[in-house]
Amino acid sequence: MHAYVVFAHPTRRSFTGAVLDALCRGIEEAGHTFEIGDLYAMGFNSDLSLAEYERETNVHGNRAHSPLPADVRAEHEKISRADGLAFVFPVWWSDCPAKMKGWFDRVWVCGYAYDYGLPNETFPYPPLSVARALVLCPGGNTGDALHQSGVAEGMRRIFANDRLQPGVGVDQCEFVLLPGTEDPQRAAQSRTRNLATARRAGRDFLTAEAGRGSG
Ligand SMILES: Cc1cc2nc3c(=O)[nH]c(=O)nc-3n(C[C@H](O)[C@H](O)[C@H](O)COP(=O)(O)O)c2cc1C
Repeated sequence: MHAYVVFAHPTRRSFTGAVLDALCRGIEEAGHTFEIGDLYAMGFNSDLSLAEYERETNVHGNRAHSPLPADVRAEHEKISRADGLAFVFPVWWSDCPAKMKGWFDRVWVCGYAYDYGLPNETFPYPPLSVARALVLCPGGNTGDALHQSGVAEGMRRIFANDRLQPGVGVDQCEFVLLPGTEDPQRAAQSRTRNLATARRAGRDFLTAEAGRGSG
């Protein structure tokens, strides 16, 4: 099986980059293949343009026949080759980095990740359909702090119940927070534990039984 792994961090020489490496190692250990979409290295444009906004909102009434940008089509093609989608990015101000958010704004287009079910609106490409998604998300604060503030649960809900849910074409999603990367007391232990979690998640990702539910 094959995974498309979306990575959103300015450098692979970061703890988030080490999480990416551990995940990919686990995927390989389980006998699967992967492709990495490094959004910063690709120079992925995360700003929804005026033309894209007008297409989404059907300002000109021909949304289904307005061409999609080449970089968005390229992402759809990478996803179509994958059995699973993985995302690796840090917690930045209690959310994903803006580049990651913009990827969803631009790639999850109407007719692909959602539609209005209009009888005379048929899109010339297949909708998103992927069996599983995995989100690995290092956070600087401790797990206790991220849970007490509600940030951990908020982020999990946004990913598992909205951006990566069955309604958009993702059968199941596991959201894994990897906290404590900047914990002054225990950063080293947290990082070691988080890398082991990422590697194990990579091993299980494509072989895990369907219907395990969101994490
Ligand atoms: C701009 C920025 C905002 C951040 N915001 C948060 C935050 O809201 N909560 C949190 O737990 N950690 C936050 N962090 C810490 C990162 O999550 C932490 O740096 C990351 O988990 C691992 O570091 P690295 O991959 O950049 O080496 C922030 C870091 C940066 C650079």
